[in-house]
Amino acid sequence: MEETREHWGNKLGFILAAAGSAVGLGNIWKFPYITGENGGAAFIIIYLLCILLIGLPVLIAEILLGRYAQKGPISTFRNYAKRHKKIWMAAGALFFLTGFIILGYYNVIAGWSMGYVFESLSGHIAGFSSSGDAALHFQKLVSNPLWILFWHFVFVATGGLVVYFGVKNGIERIARLLMPIFFLILIFLVIWGISLDSNGKGLAFLFKPDWSTISFKTVLIALGHAFFTLSVGMGVLLTYGSYLDKNDNILFCGSMIVVLDTLIALMAGLAIFTSVFGMGFNPAEGPGLVFNVLPAVFSMMPGGSLFSLLFFTLLSIAALTSTISILEMLVSTLLDETRFSRHHIVIVVSALIFILGIPAALSFGSWSNIRLFDRTMFDIMDYLSANILLPLGGLLIAVFVAWVMKKSTVLNELYRGISENRGLCRTGNVWFFLLKFVAPVLIVLVFLSITGII
Ligand code: TRP
Repeated sequence: MEETREHWGNKLGFILAAAGSAVGLGNIWKFPYITGENGGAAFIIIYLLCILLIGLPVLIAEILLGRYAQKGPISTFRNYAKRHKKIWMAAGALFFLTGFIILGYYNVIAGWSMGYVFESLSGHIAGFSSSGDAALHFQKLVSNPLWILFWHFVFVATGGLVVYFGVKNGIERIARLLMPIFFLILIFLVIWGISLDSNGKGLAFLFKPDWSTISFKTVLIALGHAFFTLSVGMGVLLTYGSYLDKNDNILFCGSMIVVLDTLIALMAGLAIFTSVFGMGFNPAEGPGLVFNVLPAVFSMMPGGSLFSLLFFTLLSIAALTSTISILEMLVSTLLDETRFSRHHIVIVVSALIFILGIPAALSFGSWSNIRLFDRTMFDIMDYLSANILLPLGGLLIAVFVAWVMKKSTVLNELYRGISENRGLCRTGNVWFFLLKFVAPVLIVLVFLSITGII
């Protein structure tokens, strides 16, 4: 049904929506805490290398593949795999599955952040004299199944509502509205954080590398996070790319998305670590960093409720523009593969995601003892998707575009709508080289290191 495929209103709409997908809990909740746990600046440098050498090339490939095929992941592989069609379609199905797993647990944290917007409004984020008090409050909330399931539900429903309205009227419109608000709040928080960090400890933590903390495991975490934060390796950007106009410059759009995502992660790191150090707290708090430590930081400063409100609004916006991108991938795949309408699909998929998220939601309370390999359901969903399925998906995309498709077809698609010149051809060739050799080899090496082979 080629003629009915929706498209973005324009290139900016696409960049904002894709950047909205990329900028999410990964940037504001996860990046700061894994940086805190893995030693700060040295980790950031490895992460930036992963972004540049692997994340960016694969991101461009994924968008390009989507625009070329004008379909979601499963149909794309079905239509363009010359051999081993079944295996490639299974890869598409794997993307679909990864989407479900990520959304299941991602919505839970997103729900917490929305819940914390209301906590801030009702004046509950105040009066903590230590991070222990704030952590206790957090613990009380997340172990209450009603609280956690209520917000999980609200968040899934909000995302579903946006996707219900479609690409241009739903996703693009919300991205255009929310991304600028998001940016303004973040700039404000950065300036304020830096003003708190009077002895520069937070800045040193972020920018002065200590290499003794780095191991292979750190590289794996950095690589997994590079995929996660860019939304790469799961067919989401492929889907967004399929709504892109044939004449838009993919190299430019892709680079903009990566620059925005990286800039925003660093800004979030700045805002958070300067205030955490500035007020004398511990940066290596793990997943609770923004919920256990920041509320204590907020309650110890003048105007803290306002900052808390701004911060959790920021987090909720970031999470919303990301969940809708994953949901759109799931919905678009089903639109390609079945004859149901968008509206019916959105309702059914949202309901399934809500159900799938229940074990993840309860992992922090009544189900915290249900463990496999010493991990809660939440941890399993997070580890499996971010550290294994996404890099695997990225590998599959790199192999498909660089090894299965013809180089001339790929470069033609890359250069569409741009007047070719020598500099551009060189960039195209460097990109293709990174995609064909560097990214796959590095991903495989990191995989081997988890299995203990090297
Ligand atoms: N990139 C988002 C974040 O940083 C999460 C996300 C959205 C995502 N869409 C994705 C991750 C697709 C992997 C694949 O929070």
